[in-house]
Amino acid sequence: MSSESMLLAFYGLCLAIHAGGFVLPSGSIVAAPSFAPTTPTTRPGSLRPLRLADEPPPESIAVTINTTLTEANTRRLFAWIKCAFEYDESEKNDVYAYYYNNIELAIAAAFGNNLPRDSLPGKLLEMALKKEGLEGEDQCGGRSDGENLEWEDRLIGDPIGRRDRESASLGAMGAAQWSGRWMTRPHSLLNVKSFNSVDDWIRTLPRGCKRTLKKATPGDQNFTVIAKPIRGGHAAPHSSYAHFRCVVQHEVRLLSNMYGPTTNAFVNALAEAISRYIGTTRMAGSVREYRDSDTGRVIGFAHEVAKGRTMRGQWFYCDDDAATRYVWFHSVSDLVRRAIEDDRIDVVDLGPSGSDAFTELKTKYGFESVVDWPSSADYSGDFIYEECQNELETMGDDMIRMIEALTKRQAARDATRDDKD
Ligand SMILES: *[C@@H]1O[C@H](CO)[C@@H](O)[C@H](O)[C@H]1NC(C)=O
Ligand SMILES: *[C@@H]1O[C@H](CO)[C@@H](O)[C@H](O)[C@H]1NC(C)=O
Repeated sequence: MSSESMLLAFYGLCLAIHAGGFVLPSGSIVAAPSFAPTTPTTRPGSLRPLRLADEPPPESIAVTINTTLTEANTRRLFAWIKCAFEYDESEKNDVYAYYYNNIELAIAAAFGNNLPRDSLPGKLLEMALKKEGLEGEDQCGGRSDGENLEWEDRLIGDPIGRRDRESASLGAMGAAQWSGRWMTRPHSLLNVKSFNSVDDWIRTLPRGCKRTLKKATPGDQNFTVIAKPIRGGHAAPHSSYAHFRCVVQHEVRLLSNMYGPTTNAFVNALAEAISRYIGTTRMAGSVREYRDSDTGRVIGFAHEVAKGRTMRGQWFYCDDDAATRYVWFHSVSDLVRRAIEDDRIDVVDLGPSGSDAFTELKTKYGFESVVDWPSSADYSGDFIYEECQNELETMGDDMIRMIEALTKRQAARDATRDDKD
């Protein structure tokens, strides 16, 4: 609940607005020359802070960040970030992309207590909210619950192809270590080869864990679980506000537990949440989506990837409500159950240990922290998909590799011929 002042790096912006009056009635913004980006080098989707501080600041404003996370300010942040994706530097609106890509402006606009409405971030936020139909005090634009749920669930992710999704997944899966490039952190592994059923695994656990797992059921906790494949060539099934909200609450909760409710921890958690949301929605695999059975709202999701003989629990995020409803425990035991039932799978990998609040828990549930984890978790085979998961890209990896090799050979041949000519 603390709120401190945060000095943000947009020195001069507000001064320029008042002095130059560059906010036009149409809502379009003409950059004042004093701070105009000469060559904006923003990549769409990358939220790189501006470095305006290099210029002598004629005036700076201190924005007070309100560190109480609410539905309204989470929506504001989401609306802003959507704009960062939508504006492309190749278009004439590139100046918007330049500012929408600034994460400090985003946080100031969404969480600032004292931000003047006619300041640059204030105006940009107003435009972003208008696009989403989020104007008004309650920030739902006067919609009904049903319409709201529909807005929350709307998918906004890019349609990313299977191969791009796979390469986006590899780094996070620890491919640097299995491809022999460098060592990553130890991973938490459970070998499931000796288990015939999930009960065999549960029997090996301490009594407290058994009790917890007994409570971690959809029926007792009033949630539903749906499996959703991430399809190559489609928007990710978890690229919606509903999922963004879970990631934000998850990160803010974890960092606040670790560092206390400081403004710094809060701002870092938001930045982390944005980058994690972008990351998970660009990767391959599938998600398990948890919803409250009464309201139908998404309360959490687990992102899994299967490759070779290993099932990897890649990411897990849930909102504050789901955190008290054993959703993480359900997701782990469900993953273990499916791994045991699948003859192709030997090992469940819950990822790096020693890096998050769950490490101790993973050990309690039988997951061992292994330094040389690739020798136990076999990732050498292909990604495992359900039938028709990547309908738009029927060409497999091998085929694409072959075509690439042929193209290269042809190019080499052309080059030789040019030499001779
Ligand atoms: C921060 O936001 C919360 C929720 O909107 C509000 O109740 C609280 O008064 C705000 N704090 C300050 C210091 O403005
Ligand atoms: C689940 O719903 C039932 C019936 O509405 C209620 O009695 C129970 O307390 C709920 N359980 C949880 C964990 O919310």
